[in-house]
Amino acid sequence: MISLSDLKKFKADGRKFSCLTCYDASMAKAMEIAEIDTILIGDSLGMCIQGRDSTLPVTVDDMVYHTAAVRRGNQHAFILTDLPFMSYATLNDALISAKAVMQSGAQMVKIEGGEWLSETVQVLTRNGIPVCVHLGLTPQSVHVFGGYKLQARTREAADRLIADCKAVVEAGAAVLLLECVPAQLGKEITELFPEIPVIGIGAGVETDGQVLVVQDMLGLTFGRVAKFVRNFMKEQAGETAIVDAFKAFHVAVQDGSFPAPEHTFQVEL
Ligand code: KIV
Repeated sequence: MISLSDLKKFKADGRKFSCLTCYDASMAKAMEIAEIDTILIGDSLGMCIQGRDSTLPVTVDDMVYHTAAVRRGNQHAFILTDLPFMSYATLNDALISAKAVMQSGAQMVKIEGGEWLSETVQVLTRNGIPVCVHLGLTPQSVHVFGGYKLQARTREAADRLIADCKAVVEAGAAVLLLECVPAQLGKEITELFPEIPVIGIGAGVETDGQVLVVQDMLGLTFGRVAKFVRNFMKEQAGETAIVDAFKAFHVAVQDGSFPAPEHTFQVEL
């Protein structure tokens, strides 16, 4: 099983690592077979799994349920789990929430924010809970940002974000995740912290790891997709491979070609 030390070694060796979101055991097993290095049980499950329009309604119980399912399906990847909206608003909440997801199989928790989380990072780390801090576009603050937009567009804003990174790293953050920031900033932050693996999503090619939401990269996000998404399913199997399989099943049931004899138990009774 990949550990935090492995991620640090990957960085030291210049070996990039892969990360996908995952929420269930069968997808987790597929990722184990594909040797995906890192899995994020993201609170994006609010949209991908629960059909909500933001991550805000997701609860710690949801994260625990999906983390346990993923861990059962995958014994290879390093697993980090989001602490959802308002579940780390106080130090006590942070400890209770982090305890629950760590006991369900996570190896690290991820929280969204900046310098103001320093004490939270310190307390969690002291209690044996490794922390990843998610900066840049932080979806739990979508209503503060007024939408999902590129962050740190000016030198001044980029320097503020770098100061946030320095503060949380100083407090003990072991991994940083940067979302939707200019590629130059992704590179600067990755180079600034030689011992801290930096994962990017829409943060350019220079970060140590890359993460995508699994539904996005499989072409299962219907409607608007972000500029940083690449649909790998389309490249491997065609535009709508999964929808096409559903359609073929529907037609085969209707025309009676499924189940065929090889899918049928023929026992004389
Ligand atoms: O919840 C999530 O899937 C995330 C990724 C977008 C990084 O935080």
